Amino acid sequence: MIKGFIFDLDGVITDTAELHYLAWKKLSDDMGWAFDREVNEKLRGVSRMDSIHIIKDHNNAQVSEAKLMELATLKNNIYVDSLDQMSPKDYLSGAQELLTLLRQEGFKVALGSASKNSTKVLSQLEATKFFDVIGDGNSVSKSKPAPDIFLYGAKKLDLQPNECIVYEDAEAGIDAAQAGGFYTVGIGPEERVGHADVRFDTMKEATLFAVKAHFKDLF
Ligand code: BG6
Ligand code: MG
Repeated sequence: MIKGFIFDLDGVITDTAELHYLAWKKLSDDMGWAFDREVNEKLRGVSRMDSIHIIKDHNNAQVSEAKLMELATLKNNIYVDSLDQMSPKDYLSGAQELLTLLRQEGFKVALGSASKNSTKVLSQLEATKFFDVIGDGNSVSKSKPAPDIFLYGAKKLDLQPNECIVYEDAEAGIDAAQAGGFYTVGIGPEERVGHADVRFDTMKEATLFAVKAHFKDLF
């Protein structure tokens, strides 16, 4: 029986991927490093420090761990400043409606995000009220594709993984949820999340009705 839902944040509830991109691009430009949207795609679902390692490796740069931490902090300052413009108009289409319906139907709901800025993003969206548990980049030390963040959410909801459906837009996120024994809904293209139990191009199509129709024996 499905009793709960766990949501990734960036790319599922809201499209902060663009703001992450702009902040990494500004940092890279300042460093004289190459960075484009193709490299940015590799950062989807990946933690901040893992992200800067990917960008450094892409540029074959020799940088100390301490300097990388400093650069990641600079990027984060740019990113956090850009979050100030976010408001409830920035939900991905369908996300707010789905969260509202889950509340009405009495499902338990958790956030399972790699971002250490989740609380700020949820607050800008006025979405905090939709979540019983907030699992974010501060909750666990092993990031996706390790299952830890979703296991954390399920435990706090007092549910087993096979009682929860995870919504994810990242390849590493679907890997993480499957490693933990969760049912998965992939948001995005086949090449990225085709390994999910069910996949939708966008959140607009990933309605509770569509998900219940797919997992009909579990509701
Ligand atoms: C994930 C994003 O949700 O959070 C990644 O998909 C990002 O792109 C990661 O790097 C960490 O975010 P933050 O806000 O802690 O730097
Ligand atoms: Mg995501």
